Amino acid sequence: PLPNSVKELTNSASLRSVPPQYATRNPETTIDIEPIIQEEIPTVDFSLLTEGTPEQRAQVVRHLGKACEEWGFFMVVNHGIPESLREAMLDSMMEFFDQTEEEKGEYARKHVMNPIRYGTSFNSTVEDVWYWRDYLRVFVHPVFYSPAKAPPSFREISKEYTTSTRAMGMELLRGIWESLGLEENDMTKALDLHSCYQVLVGNIYPPCPQPELATGLPAHSDHGLLTILLQNGVNGLQVKHRGNWVRVEPLPNSFLVNTGDHLEIVSNGRYKSVLHRAEVNSQSTRMSIVTVVAPSLDAIVEPASQLVSDEHPMMFGGMRYGEFLERLQANRLKEKSMLDLLR
Ligand code: SIN
Ligand code: FE2
Repeated sequence: PLPNSVKELTNSASLRSVPPQYATRNPETTIDIEPIIQEEIPTVDFSLLTEGTPEQRAQVVRHLGKACEEWGFFMVVNHGIPESLREAMLDSMMEFFDQTEEEKGEYARKHVMNPIRYGTSFNSTVEDVWYWRDYLRVFVHPVFYSPAKAPPSFREISKEYTTSTRAMGMELLRGIWESLGLEENDMTKALDLHSCYQVLVGNIYPPCPQPELATGLPAHSDHGLLTILLQNGVNGLQVKHRGNWVRVEPLPNSFLVNTGDHLEIVSNGRYKSVLHRAEVNSQSTRMSIVTVVAPSLDAIVEPASQLVSDEHPMMFGGMRYGEFLERLQANRLKEKSMLDLLR
């Protein structure tokens, strides 16, 4: 039988090849079709958003809007979140994964709206191929959850980490609304951002004996408004930009941020959610800590009326965010298939 997780699978020292379920790629075909290039990713100086002069703020807002429009992806520097907290979050998450399968198995629940869920692949009930990744997924806002079977400090650290990244996300959103000419109060109300939904996800990608055959995570866009990502120093994320895959090498101390499906909906298609994927390597375990800031589960998300006109007709129908999430999670992770349903 297959083990419960990729981590358990790779714990057996004799693993020389990937089991057939995990052989999701054919290197002879994928490499030619999808070139991987190196390109500079936009950088946003967060301190100028919060502490800059009005001119500096206006400039960074324009830059942020441009990054959303042209990339859907940027690095945030000078964010003020201490390196010690980021390290503590990474360490705690690794300690969670280092527990036994029996301990972690407590959270191996099927239903997608369970507030604490541990698993492997994406959704093995609907996937016929498996991905080289295990995850822990925890709802942290508006109600904060934390797994009881975890290192003792997990609760406190994840609370602090998610509170500060949520605040950073909200500040970025303020700048993004401004870049779109939208009023912050209108948006906070329309998306009920005081009860915004936030989820914390830890992903681990253990070393893979044949990385060219396996997939960490397939190409997908994220739900929600913004995704904030931190990694353990091992690269592997790729972002689709103008038809090419770009390997992401984050600056030290930076957060990677990308736009989600609901920003595409709200902006009526002006800021598109960006496709990304994770590759694996044969050398070291990669870990990413992802937190998604999203509308309230009860908010009906639709294009902002100010961005709809004869010239820019409404591109998406409205849907309750919670329903979108449930449908997305119950389906196969495939590019932007959920968003396409609303077109
Ligand atoms: C994700 O897309 O959720 C994770 C990507 C990564 O691990 O870098
Ligand atoms: Fe993602």
